[in-house]
Amino acid sequence: MLPQAVDRLRAGGVVAFPTETVYGLGADARRADAVRRVFAVKGRPSNNPLIVHVTGVEMARSVVAQWPPAAQRLADAVWPGPLSIVLPRAEGVPSEVTGGGPNVAVRCPDHPVALALLYAFGGPLVGPSANKSGRVSPTSAAHVREHFTHDEVLTLDGGECATGIESTVISLATSEPTILRPGVIGPEQLADLLGMRVKGGDALKSSTADASAHSGASPGESNATPLDAPGMLASHYAPVARTVLFDHWDEVIEFVEDARDTSSEPVIVLSHSVSAEDGGDAWHLIDMPHDPVQYAACLYSALRAADATNPPLILVHSPPQAGETPAETAIWRAIHDRLSRAAAAR
Ligand code: TXA
Ligand code: MG
Repeated sequence: MLPQAVDRLRAGGVVAFPTETVYGLGADARRADAVRRVFAVKGRPSNNPLIVHVTGVEMARSVVAQWPPAAQRLADAVWPGPLSIVLPRAEGVPSEVTGGGPNVAVRCPDHPVALALLYAFGGPLVGPSANKSGRVSPTSAAHVREHFTHDEVLTLDGGECATGIESTVISLATSEPTILRPGVIGPEQLADLLGMRVKGGDALKSSTADASAHSGASPGESNATPLDAPGMLASHYAPVARTVLFDHWDEVIEFVEDARDTSSEPVIVLSHSVSAEDGGDAWHLIDMPHDPVQYAACLYSALRAADATNPPLILVHSPPQAGETPAETAIWRAIHDRLSRAAAAR
């Protein structure tokens, strides 16, 4: 499969590959036509930039204008791993990759299949999550195949993704290092590594803007207006069914009664609570883990499983805001970020 995948990439085509976080849609990051194809199959607005995947620091340096000591420190400590670093782009990077903006995100994925593909191809690959724009990210090859045909996308199967939520995105192109998307690499760890404050680590607010409100950019359209804060689109990672977060079980009863007026299908409830009960015909329970690492790993497959039954509503029991360590708290925060986007009004 790997030689076929490399052939597909050399022909300017699209290959889905597993990473430790989620599956990505790979294409040659040096070819504007290949990158445009990714935007087209994904249905992504052309002003939302793509992460460039690399084998390591040497390849990363080929796509950025400067590689500061701070970037080296982060890469030494975390790569290969779930951290994307935003820096000013090198001249040769097609503007399609950066959504028309001046910066590029780079990341070295921690997955043997992703690394084998990058080495065999011998160049940088763009890699947005391998889902249709705005939908739930894929954590298995089967998830990818639900959204794309084999003609559109050749999928390399590397099993289930261990981390389960997308990489932390940190910008070093701003005056202070700034987290643009929370992930399992948290603000405390990043601040420790950099020896300075990191912005955007606490209480990340979702932007109220959505993709269409930002500009009229449509998939593959050129001359896009760059987004002010890419990665901060409110409605994202979303199931098809309306999704609502709740704090107390009393709310479930009310929601379920309302939903009965519109559908005879049971509501789906995701809960990490030990005392949560299945509601028979009224609601079906999907048990979620108490541990943040495990919760993140199964979050997207749980949302997909919930959606697959075509329920009138998906209710998600709000998980804890904090864990026992800063590392656990970082993961809960990243989970909350994804859940609030899944539940954002569309
Ligand atoms: O874990 C991941 O990062 C996965 C795997 C496949 O590597 N990829 C991923 O890509 O999540 P995507 O395209 O679905 O999300 C990339 C995020 C978007 O929110 C985008 O706006 C932001 O990173 N981003 C990409 N390039 C950027 C840039 N130059 N400046 C600011 N944000 C950027
Ligand atoms: Mg994505």
